[in-house]
Amino acid sequence: MIQLKDGVYWVGAVDWDVRNFHGYITHRGTTYNAYVVKADRVALVDTVKAPFHETMLRHVEEVVDPKDIDYIVSNHAEPDHSGSLARMAAEAPQAKIIASERGTPVLKKYYGLDVSTIKETPQLDLGGKTLSFTPVPMAHWPDSMVSYIPEDRLLLSNDAFGQHLASVGRFDDEVDQSVLWHEATAYYANILMPLNRSVGRAMKALGGLPIDMIAPSHGVIWRRDLKGVLGHYTGWVEGRTVPRVVIAYDTMWKSTQEMAYAIAEGAASRGVETRVFNLTENHRSDVITDILEAKAVLVGSPTLNNHVYPTVADFLAYMRGLKPQNKVGAAFGSYGWAGGAKRIVEEEMRQAGIELIENDLEFSYRPTEDERRRCYEFGASIAERVRA
Ligand code: FEO
Repeated sequence: MIQLKDGVYWVGAVDWDVRNFHGYITHRGTTYNAYVVKADRVALVDTVKAPFHETMLRHVEEVVDPKDIDYIVSNHAEPDHSGSLARMAAEAPQAKIIASERGTPVLKKYYGLDVSTIKETPQLDLGGKTLSFTPVPMAHWPDSMVSYIPEDRLLLSNDAFGQHLASVGRFDDEVDQSVLWHEATAYYANILMPLNRSVGRAMKALGGLPIDMIAPSHGVIWRRDLKGVLGHYTGWVEGRTVPRVVIAYDTMWKSTQEMAYAIAEGAASRGVETRVFNLTENHRSDVITDILEAKAVLVGSPTLNNHVYPTVADFLAYMRGLKPQNKVGAAFGSYGWAGGAKRIVEEEMRQAGIELIENDLEFSYRPTEDERRRCYEFGASIAERVRA
């Protein structure tokens, strides 16, 4: 039994195996967190992904007879949190199901459930504890909301402040800190980055609340480093960057690779952190994680059949959807008998909101020594720009 506060329990499930979360590689699995809040009356906040229903039920039964649950709160209708809702409702026949106004029709459509909205019950008096609801639309879906227990200064934040991190530890002080921050960063970059404004609005709406614990729906519960996670979120929402150059490329016959390496050497020669990703060898979501705080993004592609290389096209589509903020960038690449990929890459980067730096780094066949030197110098000039 895992207790967050007196009468508040984690009853979720750890998914050690999941590796794909709608296109985002989850190297370390995840958790689906659900919470029982016990006072004179009992609420279950969120459920779990459908295959984990039995696990959650076992955890619920450790702290309460499901038949005694008075309310089931659905903070968010996405199936990783609502997948076992219908089965849980059957286990708790007395329970009234509550969701945001925009969540109600979604749950009706998914599961045919009869759901009350928080408009009718903006807060629940559980007799000794209160559950207060705040809609946070688009953090992550239009229906998203958070639940707050003022008596415990506890925020049940659903997707916000999560990490895709399966672990034995349930709290932030019980896991490796470098892993925790890496996964919190990856999660923000791959899920919340395009929703910066919504996350900012949610943080503003919650800004006045006294909070000493944040319990998200994925990963560990923040009880030690709230200041750290709130500080990081503030930076990410604002699109804060560090002097870092990320170079993502693919290559057919090593020519574009040679260009990428020469650009990287030039950038590194100015003392700027430089990271290079071959898009066949690296997953798109790992590259995006490093792009979140990077000032410069360079994308290299050979021209293949008058178009970009397939892995580069995949990466560009993913990046465009995630709308990185406050970036400068450039495209480069090699070609055989005709070029063209560079222009297509540039257009995609422009559509992603990246400010392009003009260059003429599109070379035929293998880069000559002079062309290699021009790549190096371009890398150095980018580094000087991001360092300024
Ligand atoms: Fe974890 Fe938007 O669901």
